[in-house]
Parts: sequence; C-alpha cells; structure tokens
Amino acid sequence: MSRRPLIAGNWKMFGRQADLGELEALSTAVADLGDVLDVAICPPATLLAAACRVAGPVRIGGQDCHPGADGPHTGDLSAAMLADAGARYCIVGHSERRRDHGDTDATVRAKAAAAAAAGLAPIICVGETLEERKDGRAIAVVESQLAQSIAEMADAATVIAYEPVWAIGTGLTPTPAEIGAMHAAVRARLVGLFGAAGAGMRVLYGGSVKPANAAEIFAVADVDGALVGAASLKAADFAAIIAAHPAAAVR
Ligand code: 13P
Repeated sequence: MSRRPLIAGNWKMFGRQADLGELEALSTAVADLGDVLDVAICPPATLLAAACRVAGPVRIGGQDCHPGADGPHTGDLSAAMLADAGARYCIVGHSERRRDHGDTDATVRAKAAAAAAAGLAPIICVGETLEERKDGRAIAVVESQLAQSIAEMADAATVIAYEPVWAIGTGLTPTPAEIGAMHAAVRARLVGLFGAAGAGMRVLYGGSVKPANAAEIFAVADVDGALVGAASLKAADFAAIIAAHPAAAVR
C-alpha cells in the first residue's frame, strides 16, 4: 500500500510572531512540491491561527489537546478549538507531555480519539527510553504503548511517530537497522490491530532528524516521513530535510 509521506515539524515551546517569517519562507520553499508529500508545522498555540493564515501548502497542527469537549478546564484547549483555528493535525502523547504532565497511554488514547472526532489527524507519539532499549525491551515497550494509545475506532488518517526518548534533542539516533526493525514491528502491529486501516497509517521517525541524516533515515523501509523538532524551527534546515526525501526528488 502506498502511503503519502508526511514530514512534520514540532516547534515545541519555541516561536514568536516574528518566527512566522520562517513559516512563510517554508511555504515558499515547498510551494512546487504539489501533493507528493505532506508538510506540516505544529507551532505553539499562541501562533496557531496566525500560522494558518501564512502557511500556504504547509498544514498546521496543534501540539496537544484536552481529551474532552469544550468545558471548564482552565488553560486547556479542546481539539475542536484547534480545528476551528485551522489545524489539520494534533500531536498527542509526545514524551515531553508524558514526562511533564503525566499523560498515560489511556490519556493519550482519549486525546487521540478527541482529535479524530474533531476532524484532526492525531499524531500519536511512542518510544522507548535508553534503559528500555539497553534491556532489549524497546520493541515490546513500543508495541504496548501502541496497543494502548490508539483509539479503537482509529482510521487510516491516524499517524504514529516513533520517537525514541533518548534520541530527542540529543543528536543521537538509532541505526538504520534499529529504525527499520522498529518500524516493521509497528507496521505489523498496526495491521494486526486495524487491518487495512492499519496498513494505511503513516509511521514517522522522530529524534534528532537533521539535514545531514534525513536521507539515510528516509531510505529505511517502512519509514513514512519524520517528526522533526529543533531542525524545524529554521525554514532552510526543514526545507533541506524535506528535499532529502526521495518523493521530493522525483516530482
Ligand atoms: P528533535 O528533532 O529536536 O530531536 O526533537 C524531536 C521531537 O521530539 C519531535 O517531536
């Protein structure tokens, strides 16, 4: 099954109005890519609506959502609010949210369901710690996160991001063979859980993706794109990562 690649940037807690210029530059850089691959940026919520106005072909996403509908939850954002602001995606279960806010697999599952119900494609993050990898438990940990973090009714619009915790912001990455083994396991699990819908879900790699290593990562079988942190903040770096994807080259 052919899946359209997705290269998404997660700006995390970075970005001011002035940084929308980077988004405008990115929008120009990817303007002639057509529909060979999807490009997305997930800015902080303060920039979401303004980002949608300058994004052009770049799709915009939120970084988290509340699992419930609009209600008395000070400081939270519902998925419907993100959709109303123009978002198309919503990251859920990022390891920084799991770490900083105690999001469990059950919370992530509820958030993913809320995002999907609001018409957003959830980007569900999973990934092992260094200790879990050293113990030989990486695949088992990720399989368990997957089974428990994806809503029962998930469809092919759901995106999975495999982000080893130890590779985020460290400059370290698994070897291509390790990424390939994990993505094959994730794919098998998705097909086992969801059949044809699981075969259609995109599985991204995330963790220290840079212009210098992007081509090697994109060449790994079963890698359908990337979720990029630091290197998505500058249009030139992110555009270089996108250009390294084989789909961008053959357009
Ligand atoms: P870095 O690309 O900065 O390692 O971050 C990856 C990430 O956490 C994306 O969600």
